Amino acid sequence: MELRPRIGRRVVLIPLPFQGHLNPMLHLANILHFSGFSISIIHTHFNSPNPADHPHFSFHPIPDGLPPKSGASMGDIIPLVNALNQNCSGPFTSCLSEMLSDASAQPVACLITDTHWHVTQATADGLEIPRIVLRTSSFTTFAVLAALPLLRQKGYLPLRESQLEEPVHEFPPLKIKDIPRSGTTDHDPMYQLLSTMCKESKASRGIIINSFEELEPSAMSTVQQEFGVPVFPIGPFHKFLPPSPSSLLNPDRTCISWLDAQPPKSVLYVSFGSVASIDEDEFSETAWGLVNSNQPFLWVVRPGLVRGSAGAFQVPDGILDTAAGRACIVEWAPQLEVLSHAATGGFWTHSGWNSTLESLSAGVPMLCRPVLFDQNIDARYVTDVWKVGISIESKLERGKIEEAIKRLMIGREAMEMRERAACLRETADRCLREGGSSYKYLEKLVSLIMSF
Ligand code: UDX
Repeated sequence: MELRPRIGRRVVLIPLPFQGHLNPMLHLANILHFSGFSISIIHTHFNSPNPADHPHFSFHPIPDGLPPKSGASMGDIIPLVNALNQNCSGPFTSCLSEMLSDASAQPVACLITDTHWHVTQATADGLEIPRIVLRTSSFTTFAVLAALPLLRQKGYLPLRESQLEEPVHEFPPLKIKDIPRSGTTDHDPMYQLLSTMCKESKASRGIIINSFEELEPSAMSTVQQEFGVPVFPIGPFHKFLPPSPSSLLNPDRTCISWLDAQPPKSVLYVSFGSVASIDEDEFSETAWGLVNSNQPFLWVVRPGLVRGSAGAFQVPDGILDTAAGRACIVEWAPQLEVLSHAATGGFWTHSGWNSTLESLSAGVPMLCRPVLFDQNIDARYVTDVWKVGISIESKLERGKIEEAIKRLMIGREAMEMRERAACLRETADRCLREGGSSYKYLEKLVSLIMSF
């Protein structure tokens, strides 16, 4: 695609500094740059993007007040997001005021921030700049989060062990156990964060979502009604343009040459995203399940994946010897390339929204093992709505894993899931083309920004 003529307006984007949030925000920045806007990125020192990967954007670091060497593990994300909002409010105002008063720079049209940067609504109001939000989950998750007070009122929450398998009538086919586990009581910090996030998103001028209309039509109308501002589903972002790198860890490209040597659709790609972790027992069961399945596998064992191991985790030699030639293990993979590789036939995922959408739009069926946040909702949609995957809902145990991998990769059920996944990939491709739904919503988004 050719770069559109320059519009002479600047859009300022503020990503939340976690991998699953940085990726979509940087893809969005590329799309808006392609659409004619100049791009400025305000970012924290913590998990800073690499400016060298995006020479066409200007980068503005701000102090984040976090102690040096802060790291994100599963338990500490909520306090981290709270601390970031608290610490960065002043720096946002100073940085934006400076940009607004710079007469030599292009005028700022609007601010686009992650929904979790809720404090930026007050900053935007104070400086009289319109704020649009980017929501990095699915429409369904956003609708469920907005409905948490209602779900509590109706008695679904707080979650009770005896009710977990029961349906949530307002959000079929979700079950009570799919509702995010923490964040469901008044005093819970996650509940407070989510309700502030929803409140400040309602005060924004629009919501951009990395999804597409055809994927979640009913949840999209719920979000439209609930939030009362224009909604722009313009995903899958990464397929609009060739994405520029945005990984915080270095992707190990040796896995691509390993994939090149594997038969078509034979490899199971295994990755649990950037935050979720498992314990040592689960790791061992996973490893033996993979080996015993007899399928070739590419496994991302990222530093910190195994709870209690901060650094790289050593995969036991016995496992690797048994799987000789059939296994490739890396600390971080170029996931988009892996998913679109001809040898990749399935994806065992933690069902983070980016991974889910990337797999759907590459036509790769999924083995879902959700861990936290919105991942149960994504997995439920993959298995029960789009029917392009299966879930392991029980304790991770090697026999069950072996069985699930075989169901996903071999036989009639696998073929049917593959066919449905190929149809979804087609739909995703179509919606990005001229006249497609995401393409049209992008045009509407550009018009809205131009109208400010
Ligand atoms: C978390 C939540 O799970 C997710 O649902 C929420 O919307 C954002 O925060 P995360 O654990 O990072 O996200 O998972 P996911 O949303 O799947 O994002 C991971 C990203 O890292 C994907 O874009 C994926 O392509 C990339 N990745 C992952 C790599 O590039 N290489 C890898 O080896 C693993």
